Amino acid sequence: MTEVTDLLDAGERLDLEGLRALQLERLRTSLRHAYDNVPFYRESLDKAGIRPEDCTSLADLARFPFTTKADLRENYPYGMFAVPQDRIRRLHASSGTTGRPTVVGYTDGDLSLWADMVARSIRAAGGRPGDKVHVAYGYGLFTGGLGAHYGAERLGCTVIPASGGMTARQVQLIQDLEPDIIMVTPSYMLTLLDEFERQGVDPRGTSLRVGIFGAEPWTEQMRREIEERFAIDAVDIYGLSEVIGPGVAQECVETKDGLHVWEDHFFPEIVDPITGEPLPDGEEGELVFTSLTKEAMPIIRYRTRDLTRLLPGTARVFRRMEKITGRSDDMVILRGVNLFPTQVEEIVLRTPGVAPHFQLRLSREGRMDALTVRAEARPDASPEVRDAAARSIAAAVKDGIGVSVTVEIVEPESLERSVGKIRRIVDLRPKE
Ligand code: DLL
Repeated sequence: MTEVTDLLDAGERLDLEGLRALQLERLRTSLRHAYDNVPFYRESLDKAGIRPEDCTSLADLARFPFTTKADLRENYPYGMFAVPQDRIRRLHASSGTTGRPTVVGYTDGDLSLWADMVARSIRAAGGRPGDKVHVAYGYGLFTGGLGAHYGAERLGCTVIPASGGMTARQVQLIQDLEPDIIMVTPSYMLTLLDEFERQGVDPRGTSLRVGIFGAEPWTEQMRREIEERFAIDAVDIYGLSEVIGPGVAQECVETKDGLHVWEDHFFPEIVDPITGEPLPDGEEGELVFTSLTKEAMPIIRYRTRDLTRLLPGTARVFRRMEKITGRSDDMVILRGVNLFPTQVEEIVLRTPGVAPHFQLRLSREGRMDALTVRAEARPDASPEVRDAAARSIAAAVKDGIGVSVTVEIVEPESLERSVGKIRRIVDLRPKE
């Protein structure tokens, strides 16, 4: 039998010392490339009084200025590109909910790197050449669909480019084409689950072996729910368009202990989200990325707003990041208490009588913000079970997070379903 280690690529076979040396060499080249070719970086480094050659150790990176989403917006659409337009082979855009989107570009080399990283991710998830991969991430400007697609092809899989939506047909395709792997947002996987049940098809009886879920935060409780209901292994994939797309970090199926960051290409740091000070591995803060090998759009110290911590490698030499707690922009501050949708997800999913569908409604009562958790009843839950569930969720939020919320248990199938990234927070507060 082939051992997993026989399948590793050259980057995954490095030892820690080799990895750090490679990162420094690549970092210096990448800083130079950005400085020489992107006016924005030249200005921002000059302003900070630092030059690419001042980076003589990985720790020196902390002296370089950050790049933010606002910087990318100000340079919309092509200002962050470091190569002439005729070398740009593809554009994608990020799923910004407000204002201008951000556009990202790829050279042939970038597309190849991206496919390699997604292939590496699928392999870490337990995928092998010859597997059939059903891709239900959206195709288009969003990086999920095409990113997964080319990665699966690169690994030598058969791709089923289903994209998002047309849920009834997805269930049909899964039954007929018998994929081994599905790549989809965890929230859309739950929408598919409803559809399996609606069609009277046993979701545990499919050919699926592994699900590779990402593009939005999800919890250990959600992993258990999905694994149990579909009889598959559920693993986490992370990425963002500004860095490349999916395939920046991936959980290994054999350990399921957080996501190994493919740090031979994407260098992670954790900083204090308020002060920007670097934090040591093990401490929670905002994830920041510097690309080491990207050509079209090198990125220096990009503030992702995603909150997590870095841990030493286990199944791979690379450091792991813990599952994302949430984005700093999705944090609700209620009477001085910080609350993330993932904390509510953990509570809702362990409460008997409620389905794994919930929504957070923010409103204003007088001068105070108020939060209502709406969770959907399971079809078989009696009125008594529903009442008990509402009390239990409210008590768990109060005890675990430290704030009082209203809980409404709503009818089965009454909350909006996701076809891609789910929107957990509905903000009904009057605009200032
Ligand atoms: O969501 C890329 C992607 C596609 C990743 C498919 C995984 C699978 P963007 O649309 O630019 O790119 O959104 C990036 O999504 O900063 C996180 O806030 C969130 N995100 C992505 N993956 C995860 C994950 C794609 N596994 C933003 N867990 C990121 C939690 C995630 N949040």
